Amino acid sequence: MTSEPFQRVADILLTCPRGIAPYLAEEARALGFEVDAELSAGVRTHGTLADCLRLNLWLRTAHRVLWSMGSFRAHHPDELYKRLAALPWEEFIPADGYVSVDSSVSNAFIRDTRFPNLRCKDAIVDRIALSCGRRPDSGPRMLGAAVFLYWRDDGGEVYLNTSGEPLQRRGYRTRPHRAPLQETLAAALVAAMGQKPGLKGHFVNPMCGSGTLAIEAVLARRNTAPGLLREAFAFRALRGFDAALWETLREEARKAELGGVRGLVVATDRDPAAVDAARRNAVAAGVGACIEFAVCDFRDTDVPEGAGVAALNPEYGERLGDERQLTATYAAIGDFFKQRCQGYTGYVFTGNPELGKRVGLRAARRLPFWNSTIECRLLEYEMYSGSRPPGPAPKPASAAEPVPAAKPGRASR
Ligand SMILES: C[S@@+](CC[C@H](N)C(=O)[O-])C[C@H]1O[C@@H](n2cnc3c(N)ncnc32)[C@H](O)[C@@H]1O
Repeated sequence: MTSEPFQRVADILLTCPRGIAPYLAEEARALGFEVDAELSAGVRTHGTLADCLRLNLWLRTAHRVLWSMGSFRAHHPDELYKRLAALPWEEFIPADGYVSVDSSVSNAFIRDTRFPNLRCKDAIVDRIALSCGRRPDSGPRMLGAAVFLYWRDDGGEVYLNTSGEPLQRRGYRTRPHRAPLQETLAAALVAAMGQKPGLKGHFVNPMCGSGTLAIEAVLARRNTAPGLLREAFAFRALRGFDAALWETLREEARKAELGGVRGLVVATDRDPAAVDAARRNAVAAGVGACIEFAVCDFRDTDVPEGAGVAALNPEYGERLGDERQLTATYAAIGDFFKQRCQGYTGYVFTGNPELGKRVGLRAARRLPFWNSTIECRLLEYEMYSGSRPPGPAPKPASAAEPVPAAKPGRASR
């Protein structure tokens, strides 16, 4: 039976990497939540703590599920302490438990964000000690209940961080390799490529690095709830956590999972260490059997006959690779699409628009994304088989558009 604190409705803030809020909003709506606001790096909705269990289990593009304890006005850290100590923490955090505080603060009195974290933690444990006669342990590591403080100038909001460690840490990436994409960003990218449960068609991922795009594509197509992949969630440490409800939700998610992928998924990289990492990560994610791996130059990737998506995330000269050399690589990607990917939709994810132009094909769409602080584009190319169909400009591929079924056997190059 779900306890009363878990049934109270409050604002919920879903945080995400900058630029992917539209994908997160779509996910929240699909789970039956109303979107109250779409922010630059988050989505506002509302619901109960029990709802937060479902959000943590299913969301692919969120970093944290934050349940609001309330907003406050405070200019000075002493005021902050008073406002936060007035909230009923003892109803949510066990006196014999553990709490950690994390924050985003911009206030004239604060130089070191450890200070407001400390004041917030003091307010919580003092309040609990006063009402329960015992104070919970606390520390920076997320070992139990987690609180998130947002404070700008003279106002802010304080949340129970029901996720704890950010949700992009799915637990499968035991081998990150070089310059891996965040799992949440990769999930938004594959959503933009139309990857969704039951989709037919192939997914080819040359330059796979640690395999994040291929793994997230399979998780989306198999309808695997990403929360099934990890055990640790901060909501488990809250008072009134309903372990039976959590198990029921997990069981429902397991039943909703599709058996396999309708099409071939291929991931290649010229670096054997990358392919080794990608293979191990795929096994850790439970999708090792769904992906064919190979060590090869991207031009030699075995592209299955039929239709589907070919997705590449080449280096773009910010962290790795040399721009002059990369110019030739991007031009070769254009040739690869033209010569080897007919019938496919090609995608290049890059943070360098000049290199993007070197692909030399007309992009049907240029979707904006951010990779940390780098503004990026997902470039989409329709590679029609034979000549381009008559009519005006090529249409963007729709996520709902059906693609022909995978043909058995592999294409010879
Ligand atoms: C930016 S990383 C990809 C990261 C990947 N999306 C992930 O999440 O881990 C680019 C990858 O392209 C590979 N690469 C670069 N040039 C290549 C080529 N000519 N053929 C095949 N792989 C190549 C590199 O070895 C590297 O693993």
